[in-house]
Amino acid sequence: MKHVISPLDLSTQELSDILSLAGKILDDPKKYFGCCHGKKLATLFYEPSTRTRLSFEAAMLNLGGSVLGFSSADSSSAAKGESVSDTIRVVSSYADICAMRHPKEGAPYVASIHSSIPVINAGDGGHNHPTQTLTDLFTIKTLKGRLDHLTIGFCGDLKFGRTVHSLINAMVRYPGSRFILISPDELRIPTYLREEVLEAGNIPYQETKALEEVMPELDILYMTRVQKERFFNEEDYIRLKDSFILDALKMQYARSDMLVLHPLPRVNEIATEVDDDPRAVYFKQAELGVYVRMALIMTLLNITPHTQN
Ligand code: CP
Repeated sequence: MKHVISPLDLSTQELSDILSLAGKILDDPKKYFGCCHGKKLATLFYEPSTRTRLSFEAAMLNLGGSVLGFSSADSSSAAKGESVSDTIRVVSSYADICAMRHPKEGAPYVASIHSSIPVINAGDGGHNHPTQTLTDLFTIKTLKGRLDHLTIGFCGDLKFGRTVHSLINAMVRYPGSRFILISPDELRIPTYLREEVLEAGNIPYQETKALEEVMPELDILYMTRVQKERFFNEEDYIRLKDSFILDALKMQYARSDMLVLHPLPRVNEIATEVDDDPRAVYFKQAELGVYVRMALIMTLLNITPHTQN
């Protein structure tokens, strides 16, 4: 049994297989309906979500399975003090696979230790968000045609943005990856990522505050929201929240084939006038997340279209 807690829990080959399966599902979704008949997905969300929870649920329903779960800690027995380990022991007897989001880093890992069903980390604090990474990789591969030799600009809250941490960890595996890290000083990537991943791996990167200057170099611009919920005080959040706002004027500096990704939700870091630019693919990205989660569920449940019963 396999759990997916970090993007690194999937080998490069496993990642490639999941992306390839997601591509096949995208081409012919109806073929896969019924693959998970009789299987149940539990969505245990201790923190708010729109895309991740609903796309997991849509994925399981598209595969002919069923879903159960909760969408906030308050509506579960966590509100009465139940531990994650006790909850997953119980849920293991109700469902075949589980997706868990939790505000505490490491909570899905703790769950995986006590689980008898595959646990998927659907976002843990400011740490990791591996299925957003799968979504991002699938979006880049589908729309750009490759995952190697890309210059990716990450812009915004690189300190607390778990989607950034997970995607950097995944992209360093592909040859020719180069990163431009655009953030205020206070929101730079964590030291462990800079030293243990980028510098240890001799990965080319640059840190800057000048978005316009680096725009012409980018193949991908990955915008992020300043993560209000991870700040210790409101004053710092207010000071930093509008550090970078992508608008139509700034898009003029970008290449004609640059793609703008954003894991969403957006607050105001991308002006709505950018939405109609063909390079803005964040809503397509959210759509593609369903197909890659269908592929992940099938993979973790060892289901292929030919083994369905
Ligand atoms: N991208 C993402 O995790 O969105 P939600 O918080 O809506 O799930």
